[in-house]
Amino acid sequence: MTIPVITVDGPTASGKGTVASRLAQALGYHYLDSGALYRLVALDGLEQGVDPDDGAALAQLAAQLRPRFADGHVSLRGRDVTDMIRTEDVSRTASRIAVHAPVRSALLELQKAFREAPGLVADGRDMGTVVFPDAALKVFLTASVEARAERRHKQLIEKGFTASMPALLQDLRARDERDSQRATAPLKPAEDAYLLDSSTLSIDEVVQQILHWHASGTT
Ligand code: C5P
Repeated sequence: MTIPVITVDGPTASGKGTVASRLAQALGYHYLDSGALYRLVALDGLEQGVDPDDGAALAQLAAQLRPRFADGHVSLRGRDVTDMIRTEDVSRTASRIAVHAPVRSALLELQKAFREAPGLVADGRDMGTVVFPDAALKVFLTASVEARAERRHKQLIEKGFTASMPALLQDLRARDERDSQRATAPLKPAEDAYLLDSSTLSIDEVVQQILHWHASGTT
């Protein structure tokens, strides 16, 4: 029996992280936040002074990455870095280092190892196209750039940060451009993915829709 995988891919701030972890919870599946791995490599690189354009050196860091995920926290070499990998600096660097093919291949086995019984929900950019091409259900979650910027704005304000909409829009557009234009594993829906535009849907509605697709595929 192959272990079932549900992939949720999509652009930055499409809500895929929240959706994927709720799905995993609802189904009792494991959860892989693949973006966190790119963020961990970015953080490691920044702290060790590695040039974000040096794909070979970053791939070495990626190959030695032994992250520990537990109870919604992630640690690296015994240090809790859950909040550190969410800073704007790390976010921007993650999107830059993710263009390097050697970094991506160094993270491939690590990602595949998350496939454990009874099942896995994996979110990212290339889960359905590259990492789990045989996934039982593939979802490509989108939302307009304006809707995503508004969500990000709300989140930042709630956390007590200041945020400017024009800057957020510009940053999201730059990340979309880098993610979809890169040569290796660009952001694009798998041919057999269900497309879901969440611009006007709540998280709950998105989760229910995916659970419905999942149930129709397994019955
Ligand atoms: O999803 P998240 O925003 O945490 O991902 C951080 C960065 O890692 C993204 O901007 C993207 O460039 C990269 N990424 C990727 N492939 C994945 C997951 C994330 O290239 N599967």
